[in-house]
Amino acid sequence: MVNAIEWKDGKVIMLDQSRLPVEVIFIECTDYNIVAEGIKKLWIRGAPAIGIAAAMGIALGAQDITAKNFKEFIAGLDQIFNTLLSTRPTAVNIKWAVERVKKLLKANKDESVSRLKELLIEEAQKIHKEDIEVNKAIGKWGAQFIKDGDTVLTHCNAGSLATGGYGTATAPIFVAIEQGKKIQVIADETRPVLQGARLTAWELMEAGVPVTLITDNSAGALMKKGRINLAIVGTDRTVKNGDVANKIGTYSVSVLCKEHKIPFYVAAPLSSIDFSIPTGDKIPIEERNAEEVTHIFGTCRIAPENVKVINMAFDVTPAKNITAIITEKGAFKPKDIRKLIKKDVNLDEYRIKIGE
Ligand code: MRU
Repeated sequence: MVNAIEWKDGKVIMLDQSRLPVEVIFIECTDYNIVAEGIKKLWIRGAPAIGIAAAMGIALGAQDITAKNFKEFIAGLDQIFNTLLSTRPTAVNIKWAVERVKKLLKANKDESVSRLKELLIEEAQKIHKEDIEVNKAIGKWGAQFIKDGDTVLTHCNAGSLATGGYGTATAPIFVAIEQGKKIQVIADETRPVLQGARLTAWELMEAGVPVTLITDNSAGALMKKGRINLAIVGTDRTVKNGDVANKIGTYSVSVLCKEHKIPFYVAAPLSSIDFSIPTGDKIPIEERNAEEVTHIFGTCRIAPENVKVINMAFDVTPAKNITAIITEKGAFKPKDIRKLIKKDVNLDEYRIKIGE
């Protein structure tokens, strides 16, 4: 598995994904502002990975705060929180990481400032480690939906590069392969930033998973020919009613799956579920610069100068198009994910289990 981010010797080391697969370059961040820049510029991307980056950025920035007490320390952290929160609006994982850190600090408010600084480093590393375990659990619950001989379509990159390692949408694929199933993956190239072509195809090939790259507009034709058995995608923010925000084009894939009666699954760690938002239309959608659409790699122009561009980075897939949402706690019908925050609920009554 590829390691997209790491805390090492008091620095945050991130693989610059904007240059993959042409160059494999690691960036050493010694300042939280560089971490924030890396999130904005997609050196690091993918919802869980930017949540981890945010936690590491906070830990990094905290080390430079000169504060005599808890109150001064928190005041110093505020600027760091706001900088990281302002980087990318759609993935809820940055907010999730900031809230988790705030809770930790509140629970330890009587500790010295130097101990609080240590705790922030420990927490960032814990978030990273936990994410890998979460992905593996998603893999365990999701592999049941993949049969021997299946071809799985995926969109964007929800693999090890987008997470602490192992990936969310890729996890059921890895587990299915470990179970001895012979399967293959079709990766949508994912215009305009080409996460499917540059990242998913690259990391699956590195992992020895059979993968075929297609242009985004080929998926429907392949489904019609019966060459895709199921789709699994990741999510940047899944909300209470089971609507899912993910990379632009995910909604189109879900519509195509519905038309061709192909199951459409979303792999969603709890860190990407925002139960405070009732429906998908309330999810903030990031709009990125026109150059991503008009140019390839920022240098080669492929559209007329000054053409008007719409470049929404994400779209929302309605719950009704989703067969199941696979979390670390099990796979559920979209309408049942709200049970995950209910007390005294026997989740077994809602888990989808095939073959029982
Ligand atoms: O713009 P990106 O590359 O950050 O978009 C990433 C996605 O849309 C992923 O599918 C999502 O974050 C889930 S990653 C496990």
